[in-house]
Amino acid sequence: MSFTNDRFLRALTNQPLDRPPLWMMRQAGRYLPEYLATRERAGSFLNLCKTPELACEVTLQPIARFGFDAAILFSDILTIPDAMGLGLSFNEGEGPRFANPIRTLDAIEQLGIPDPQQELRYVMDAVKLIKHELAASIPLIGFAGSPWTLASYMIEGGGSKDFINSKALLYAQPEAMHRLLDKLTQAVSLYLNAQIDAGVDVVMLFDSWGGMLPTNSFQAFSLATMKKVIDQLKPTVPVIVFTKGGGMWLNDLNNIGATALGIDWQTDLAYARACLPNTCLQGNLDPTVLFTNPRVVRDTTLAMLQAQGANQQYIANLGHGILPKTPLKNVDAFVQTVQEFRY
Ligand code: CP3
Repeated sequence: MSFTNDRFLRALTNQPLDRPPLWMMRQAGRYLPEYLATRERAGSFLNLCKTPELACEVTLQPIARFGFDAAILFSDILTIPDAMGLGLSFNEGEGPRFANPIRTLDAIEQLGIPDPQQELRYVMDAVKLIKHELAASIPLIGFAGSPWTLASYMIEGGGSKDFINSKALLYAQPEAMHRLLDKLTQAVSLYLNAQIDAGVDVVMLFDSWGGMLPTNSFQAFSLATMKKVIDQLKPTVPVIVFTKGGGMWLNDLNNIGATALGIDWQTDLAYARACLPNTCLQGNLDPTVLFTNPRVVRDTTLAMLQAQGANQQYIANLGHGILPKTPLKNVDAFVQTVQEFRY
């Protein structure tokens, strides 16, 4: 498929560029007044995700405002556990909650694998609608959570600081954890392949909690399961892997078949580039820099772009999702700095 603006795919396939492509993790979200207005109309975040017309509308909002080089499907990584019957809800300021967390091998054995064309049909419908509306202007990113990240939400019953329940299960009953991860590996692979069939051009795995594990557990329980997912994906689209807290495992992450790696804000970008001179990298401005002022944003963004040197296998982005209440004038400064940059 060819696009009016193909910078994003050019960076992923190592072709010459005028400047780095740009998008922002969580680019559709609460920092945008137009997002808050649509969410109000939807009644809740989950309704927004489950109504393809509204999910499409908010996907396109940041594109219209900032001219990003890629769109990302508006959805959530927790759609899979929701479809598995865990009873997902979001309460303002509290984050995600599951009414039925998973704690025992018995509960794990009872989990079904969602059919993407049934329980997750609304996601595929949103993808088709967004692709139609984008009309080949820019590529669309589909995504899923990594099996380990989904498992930790399902076991904790929501977000966590210390991951006591999920790590205790992993250490005391590794076979039970592997059983859960096997099911999630299958669910995530089916889900991403269905997104690819519905039309997404790139897929991204969000391993938001990989960094909570010691190295050997990360390798056995997160890295290995992400490799299994990637091995099962249709080979037609590039894959981006983002492990938050994965800066010390860049070489491991580079060996699981991903096209590009997301770099978090804690990792030095010049160091990441020196480790992986031939890999496409994405990131990594600290999202809290966007709470300063346009001059600081501009200087910090230029430093990020310069850390890259002349390597054009690079996608400008934040080093984690943009935060609610981020001042729009600072987002403008970030976007303008990247858009005016020339290799
Ligand atoms: O990037 C995008 O614009 C696409 C949409 C997207 C959302 N969530 C929308 C969302 C994506 C890619 C995600 C992924 C996601 N969801 C991750 C991985 C990325 C990361 O940040 O590490 C995780 C861990 C989740 C789980 C989740 N969903 C959390 C922790 C929260 C925030 C809870 C809170 O209240 O702070 C959500 C909710 C969520 N997902 C919102 C959005 C826009 C906010 C919901 C609202 O409008 O209140």
